[in-house]
Amino acid sequence: MTRNYHTPLFLNEIRELLHEYLVKVLVDATFAEGGHGLTYAKEGYTVLGIEYDKELYTISKKKVQDAGVACTLVNGNFANLDTIVKKTGIRRVDAVLFDFGISMYHLRASSRGFTMESDQKLDLRADSTAKYTGRDIITSYSKEQLHECISENIESIDTGRLVDAIVSYRVKKGIARTSDIWAIAREFSNSKYVQEAVVRGLLQALRIEVNKEEENMKIGLQKASSLLDGSGLIITITFHSREDRLVKLFFKTSKWKSVFKKPLQHTSYAFAKSARLRAYVSN
Ligand SMILES: C[S@@+](CC[C@H](N)C(=O)[O-])C[C@H]1O[C@@H](n2cnc3c(N)ncnc32)[C@H](O)[C@@H]1O
Repeated sequence: MTRNYHTPLFLNEIRELLHEYLVKVLVDATFAEGGHGLTYAKEGYTVLGIEYDKELYTISKKKVQDAGVACTLVNGNFANLDTIVKKTGIRRVDAVLFDFGISMYHLRASSRGFTMESDQKLDLRADSTAKYTGRDIITSYSKEQLHECISENIESIDTGRLVDAIVSYRVKKGIARTSDIWAIAREFSNSKYVQEAVVRGLLQALRIEVNKEEENMKIGLQKASSLLDGSGLIITITFHSREDRLVKLFFKTSKWKSVFKKPLQHTSYAFAKSARLRAYVSN
């Protein structure tokens, strides 16, 4: 099994923010394998890590124990940030970091259908408590539901025609694996470029739906701003424009102030060119 580790983005920029805003206690709400949280815990910060993927949590729990640092790891959803913090007994949190989406572990090692590069079951659950898989959704949603789920993830493609292609394929052959998604893309277009865009977009749209990513983001941001009300720092890393728009809109109507004039972009890695770092402080 290939086992590539996640490259934590904006490590230095976040370190500077933690230093500048005198952070002592940090919640890493999207811990994964601790690329951020464990690094900062090793540097002396007190860290509470949250991760909703049970498999990743188990791997990271061991890493945290071996490191012997001030880091508490909880298997849970950051949408429950308030109750998670309360249960750990931590009295004061100075900053919350959200690095939204999935980790390299999901792509390279989970075998749950996140990757376009090999044929896997269309599971797509990162949240271990999620009820429905990607397969459940693509095989049971109505045309209207599929349209709504897909339209924002695949730009400049006729979503209506794609939904027709999905429905016609599922009636004929059924959909269970990522190879079925590739077959739908090939029936949809002869262009390799379009086929890749369709597969990437469909896997992303289904993953967002399965794990209720946008609902969680809205609730998580709300809970973080209540938790830190009065003084604190919220840091977000987004990986695609839809996520970034959601963060921007959330803070636009709040009393939180943006630290940067424009979100910071990543220049060191080609894979991270769409990543955006935002940071907000409360007045
Ligand atoms: C982009 S990765 C974080 C990578 C990490 N910052 C690092 O550099 O190693 C996002 C992680 O957050 C987890 N996650 C996403 N949404 C979550 C939620 N609502 N609650 C808890 N964990 C979540 C995912 O399972 C994934 O492991």
